[in-house]
Amino acid sequence: MDKFLIKGGARLKGEVRVSGAKNAVLPIMAASLLVEGEVRLLNVPDVMDVFTMAELLRLLGAKVERLEKGVWTLDTSDLTSSTAPYEIVRKMRASIYVLGPLLARMGKASVSLPGGCAFGPRPVDFHISGLEAMGASIKLEHGYINAKVKKLKGVEIAFDRKSVGATAHLLMTATFAEGETLIANAAKEPEIVALADFLKLCGADIEGEGTDEIIVRGGKALRSPGEYRIIPDRIEAGTYAVAAFMTGGEVRIREACLDHIRTVIDRLRQAGATVEEEDRTITVSNGGKILPLTIHTSPYPGFPTDMQAQFMAMLTVADGTSIIKEGIYPDRFRHAFELQRMGADIKVEGDTAVIKGVKHLTGAPVMASDLRASAALVLAGLIARGETLIDRIYHLDRGYEDFEKKLSSLGADIRRIQD
Ligand code: UD1
Repeated sequence: MDKFLIKGGARLKGEVRVSGAKNAVLPIMAASLLVEGEVRLLNVPDVMDVFTMAELLRLLGAKVERLEKGVWTLDTSDLTSSTAPYEIVRKMRASIYVLGPLLARMGKASVSLPGGCAFGPRPVDFHISGLEAMGASIKLEHGYINAKVKKLKGVEIAFDRKSVGATAHLLMTATFAEGETLIANAAKEPEIVALADFLKLCGADIEGEGTDEIIVRGGKALRSPGEYRIIPDRIEAGTYAVAAFMTGGEVRIREACLDHIRTVIDRLRQAGATVEEEDRTITVSNGGKILPLTIHTSPYPGFPTDMQAQFMAMLTVADGTSIIKEGIYPDRFRHAFELQRMGADIKVEGDTAVIKGVKHLTGAPVMASDLRASAALVLAGLIARGETLIDRIYHLDRGYEDFEKKLSSLGADIRRIQD
């Protein structure tokens, strides 16, 4: 298993380009199951989750090709299977996105239940009840979701709480359902808007994306949009912004969609960062100390749970005590215990972490537990005294393109060790 060896102390300086958003491309790849003809996607990041989704689509019979860096084609004309096996789904929860499109295309689908993950149970009940409301009959058997349907129909769906995955999944499926679907309490993340943009380019009739209520008038065949460009990854942009600030450096982050990371930038400024904005570039620097923060993660446009671990790493050396309340995944704090091993003073109680700033972190062998936790440990390693060895970085490879290469180009001393 690959590891990262980091020698702390470098101030990051230079320019970095943000890659395409993993969480935007995955639902769009799944939605291509509903589209007639070849779909060409641009700005697709080379991250493991994209390769896993490609492998899944190929297993279903689709032609999926990576023509060159960033450019992929998908042709789902001839599907040969309606089963998403455990071996793939266990690697990536987003595999659930193929359930609705397969039902729509083939009248049946069998998708392994994703199961829990490193930050607590992550149920799929909203996905299942939404598809049932659209007319599917669903049974959970032997660890699989077995679904069939004669005809999907438009319905009103109101989620108990906001779910990015269920909103995306039911939004794409509703384009195929006969009649109107109303999704109430919909997620408003930029990746949902991107999916709606893609579907609309394919001819879908969708209104209200980016608000709490999405209306889909379904039943029209979707045709290829030709090319579609994946939006920049707001979490990757945020991660480099935090890295620049906490190392006391100065980094120009290109292809950052400012509107999508407004909350994150606001919090960085509150912590003392200087952030200059121009066009699609932000420049983040730090001339002084890191001020403590109180953060509560919540659905977009609130502070993203996917930036929580990176901010925690930063706040370990803040000038005072910070509080982080996790409003999406109450036990997403495994990274806190690894940060403690590097000398951080963090107390976790229920859904809240209290972080007392210390003078400095010290390098240590640590273990990554999920994608964003891995990024947080890398950031901590960048400012720690001495060497940090991070194990299980396959989590990081799921969602950050060329992470160590980009950091090295900014002056970080980080090496991938293969054993
Ligand atoms: C997506 C993102 C992930 C991010 C998360 C929250 C992708 C591929 N992943 O995950 O990076 O951390 O949004 O912003 O886009 N829930 C239910 N029942 C369901 C579905 C969700 O109770 O059927 C709950 C979850 O347990 C969680 C909350 O709803 O507490 C939000 O989860 P959700 O937005 O669905 O997360 P994902 O789509 O899995």
